[in-house]
Parts: sequence; C-alpha cells; structure tokens
Amino acid sequence: MELGVCYFPEHWDRSLWAEDARRMVDLGLSVVRIGEFAWSCIEPAPGQFDWDWYDRAIDMLASAGLDLILCTPTATPPKWLVDTHPDILCHDRHGRPRRFGSRRHYCFSSSTYRAESARITTALAERYGQHEAVIAWQTDNELGCHDTVRSYSPAAEAAFRIWLAERHGDVDALNAAWGTVFWSQTYRSFDEVDLPNLTVTEPNPSHVLDFYRFSSDQLIAYNKMQVDILRAHSPGRDVLHNFMGLFTDFDHFQLGVDIDIAGWDSYPLGFLDVGPYAREDKAAYMRQGHPDFAGFHHDLYRNCGRGRFGIIEQQPGPVNWARNNPAPLDGMVRLWGHETAAHGAELSCIFRWRQAPFAQEQMHAGLLRPDSQPATAHGEIAQLAKELETPDSTPSSPRIALVFSYDSQWMTEIQPQGRSWSTIKLAMEWYSAARGLGLSLDIVAPGAPLDAYDLVLVPSLLHVSDAALQAFEATSADIIFAPRSGSKTESLQIPDTLAPGPLQSLIPLKVTRSESFPPTHVETGQLGDKTVTGHTWLDHVETELTPLAQTETGTGLLYRSGRVSLFTTCPNRAFLQAVLGDICADRGIRTIDLPAGVRLIEHGRRRVVVNYNASDQQVPALGIEHLPPAGVANLSES
Ligand code: GAL
Repeated sequence: MELGVCYFPEHWDRSLWAEDARRMVDLGLSVVRIGEFAWSCIEPAPGQFDWDWYDRAIDMLASAGLDLILCTPTATPPKWLVDTHPDILCHDRHGRPRRFGSRRHYCFSSSTYRAESARITTALAERYGQHEAVIAWQTDNELGCHDTVRSYSPAAEAAFRIWLAERHGDVDALNAAWGTVFWSQTYRSFDEVDLPNLTVTEPNPSHVLDFYRFSSDQLIAYNKMQVDILRAHSPGRDVLHNFMGLFTDFDHFQLGVDIDIAGWDSYPLGFLDVGPYAREDKAAYMRQGHPDFAGFHHDLYRNCGRGRFGIIEQQPGPVNWARNNPAPLDGMVRLWGHETAAHGAELSCIFRWRQAPFAQEQMHAGLLRPDSQPATAHGEIAQLAKELETPDSTPSSPRIALVFSYDSQWMTEIQPQGRSWSTIKLAMEWYSAARGLGLSLDIVAPGAPLDAYDLVLVPSLLHVSDAALQAFEATSADIIFAPRSGSKTESLQIPDTLAPGPLQSLIPLKVTRSESFPPTHVETGQLGDKTVTGHTWLDHVETELTPLAQTETGTGLLYRSGRVSLFTTCPNRAFLQAVLGDICADRGIRTIDLPAGVRLIEHGRRRVVVNYNASDQQVPALGIEHLPPAGVANLSES
C-alpha cells in the first residue's frame, strides 16, 4: 500500500512548496492529491487560465519524486460562473436555490453545468494528461456530499420528466406503477408530473423512489461524462472517485463500474459522533472510532472497485465538522493505516498536509500544525511508512458475502413503517456480528454472482430483482434473509403473492401481517436451549415449516428450508451470532469469539489483529497474550 497526502499548493506561499515536497518524501509518502477545489485559481475569470502557478506546483512535487493524483475542480464552481449562469445552482427540498459561499452548490441536471464541467475537465486533461508524474485522476470531490444528490431545481424537473418517459414508456404504465388512482393523482402526460417536494403530506412513495433513482442516475451520468474526457486525454492513468462513509444517496456499485479505483474518505471519529451508533459504543470508542466503521467501508468499496480501492482522505487528528471533535487515541492513526492495508487497499492518503489557519476548516488537523511543526499524527505516519511491508497482491477471498442494496435503503427511507428500520444500520449490525466472530466478508450488490461463497447474509432487501433471485438460486451457499425480504415490487408496491415475493421459490412461507416496534420493545423466544431476542420488526407467516426459534406463544422468529433461513424479526447480536456460528460450523468455517473491539483481518496471505480498545486485550484463541490499546499484531509473520 502506498501512503500519500492531500495537499493544497494554492493555500501556501510558493516559497513553502519545495520544502513541503521534500518533507513529504522524507516522511515516507509517495503520492500527493491536489486540485479538487482550485477552479478559481486555475481560471480566475471566464476563459482566462492561470496555468503558471499550477505548472510550477506540479513540477515541484514531481521533481521531489512524488506521484500525483490530479482532481477535477468541479465541486467548487467559481463565483463568476454562478453569477453568469445562476441556472447551475442546485435547489433544496423547499425549492430554494442554494447559494454560493461554500461548495457543491451545483445541480447534476443543469446542462450548463455539465458543459462547463466538461470544459474545465478537458482543459486540465489536455494540459496534464500526459505528465509523467500524474498516475491518476479524481473526479470531482465526494459527489453528493452536503445533501446535494437530490436537487429540486427547474432543470431537475425537466430532466425527471424525460427520465420517466424513458423508464415507463407511456403514462398509463406510470399511473399503474405508482398507483396514482389513490388520492386522485392520475396523470395525463409525463409533463404533468412535478418533483415530489412541497406536498401537503407524504407524497406518493413510488414517485419519490423514482425521483431518488433518477437523481442517482443523473449523478452517475455526470461522473461518467468526466471519466470519458479523462480517459480520452490521459490514457494509461487510473480514474478514481472519493466516496464517503455512511452515504447512500446514490448507487455506489453502479458508479463503481465507470472508474478504476474506488476511493473513500475515512473519518472514524467524526462518523462515530454523527453516525447511528449506540450510546455505549460512542462512549467506549470516542477516540478510536467504531471497530467496524472502517472495515465495513473497506469491504464495500473493495467490491465497488472490483478489487481496487484505497483511502483518499484519512483523518489524522480532530476534524472540524462533527458535533464534538476529540483527538484520536495515540496509535490509532497507525492502526487505521495497518487495517486499511490488511483489507487490501492500494493507497491511503492523509487529509491534509498542513492545517489551514483560515476559512471553514481551520480547526481540522493535518500532518503539520499551522506553524509547520509536526502534528501528533506525523510520528505515527513515519512509523507506519517504515512498517508497511511489500504489497501482498494475493486477492481476497472471503467465504461470506453481505448483500447491500441502495434501492432498499431508499425504499425504507421513503416508507420506513418502523422508525428504527435503517437498511444501512442493519447492514452494519450484521457485519459487526460476523466480524465479532472473526469472519471476513465481501459486501456486494444484489445480483452479484454468489457462487464463490459459503454463506450469504441479506440484512435488508425489500425488492428482489430477477438478477438477485437468479444469484440466490444459482449459489449453493447458505443464505440468511432478514424480515421484510421480498416484501415490495420494483415500483414499491406489495407483491401479489405477498412477502417474501419471489423468494417463495426458495422458502415456502407467506407473510400475512407485519408489525414494527419502538426501541423499547424486544421479542423474546427460544432457539434450542438459548433464549434469543429480536427488535424493530415482526413478520407473522403462514407455512408448513416448523420454526427453528419461536416465542412462548408460538410465533416463529426463524425459519429454515434447506440452505435458506429467514428471520421474521431483526435478530439481536447474540441471536444472529448463534445462527451464524451453527452454519459456519456445518460449513467448516472457523469462528472465534473475539473480545469486544478486537478485529481479525484476513486478506490473501495477511492476518492482522487490531485492538480498538483503550485497554490491553488478550486473544488466547489467536495466541495473543497482550495487545496494547491501539495495538496491531501481524500474525502473517508467525
Ligand atoms: C471531506 C472533504 C474534504 C474535507 C474533509 C474534512 O468530506 O472531502 O474536502 O472537507 O471532509 O474532514
């Protein structure tokens, strides 16, 4: 794995550049990412380019021996562009244009903005596309950040109508797919369809779902436009994008098809603070991050990038944007680096080189303090750079897959039915339960081939597409489905056969009634001699099958038919781990009861154990007598 850093030459006096580059190399860094917000410096006025400073910065960094990732600067359209073309602005859900003054203020549906983005991307790619130090391009920056995937602008409305016409063919098909007979919503033409905002009470859920899918498609098409330009002018270079953590507003698997490397930006402490984690976890891991935050995203983005992924921005110290911004426990920055490498990443870049004493992110740490002295993480990165071994190119081959569906995330956001249901949260809960048993996973899209796996986890898949069904039918793996599986059609209606819809070909039962619960309620039952609990949801079923787990009154909590299991409630960790443990034992997959906060990463020939606790740990099952706080043990050597 290469180590790198995000650098902003435009923030610093030119006299600092050469020294900065030398210090980066001395630290053991080999890659530097630049330029993602530099549009107004590159093109200070319409059509007037100032290449001089950028040429010099690029040459200076290159001559120090650094490889460069150049970015398209489209996350920050300059003031002159906004003033000349106010139609490029995205609009919030209240229909108000978002203003200039921060970033990401553009609308993916604006044809003006697409043309302007193509123009600046072409100019950059023509100038630097053949530069020998340029190894890769990053498109834009964190597409969709700050709630910008869905724009309620006139441009979006016009594009949405065209998208609907292409998808549904004729308006009667749309009326049927959305059930517009309900509340007198029948449309006579696509031109009558508005965006689903500002309605008096909830809008039609199928309408909203189509809008979410449209918005995802617009973003993906916008990105593809940039990728095509970069590939044409800069052959042989990788194109990547920096995705975010816990972000689901567009289909990352679909965008991943268009790029070479799926990058992601890892801020474990910021996301622990703002993420959907339990209070106890927020307290226990305040300076470490949740033990499965990084792992989950590594295993997701490795698959989005078809094996190629990396961290483009790694938190080095306190950030500025969470509600509270603690500093990492000593050793955590090094631990996150080892963990990233062990999951198979090819790159990890620290965000950022030097803390900026001005503007929005002045409280965000870097590798250097604003006075250019090393900040705390500097020493840890120096150590990490020395410790990282030669890359192990053995591909990862987990025996377990977890299916994650962006479409189901949208369906459950639009019509949650139970407030506590969150597709991404359930995916992380199931992931954590498996990782707590020392298991390694791939996180894959519905419909991805599953034949290479022994066990497939499906924690929230409301609509089962034909492709997904075929993949489930074709694999010989055990499959475990959550409640609500197959409960909706593609257009978000209840299937004629009731839930689990098409999955009835795999498990003979029918859901006749569903209930959702507040967090104060659990369903309790017996699984053999174990008392088990479930939360959030309960599906009542009609079936000839005998439940494997049931409540005292005989309500089934878990059914199995051959290799297919289905929970009717969201299993608590112990319940899920008991089921996982049994299936793994049958399949000859070793499970280990890891101490809380300790994780084993097995990737290719690599076996690394990390300790997310602020206390020493022992892991007798792995022969580890003493793992200090933020400790890393490399078992591949033993
Ligand atoms: C990321 C973003 C960076 C910077 C960073 C601060 O979301 O890509 O530009 O804002 O957060 O943590």
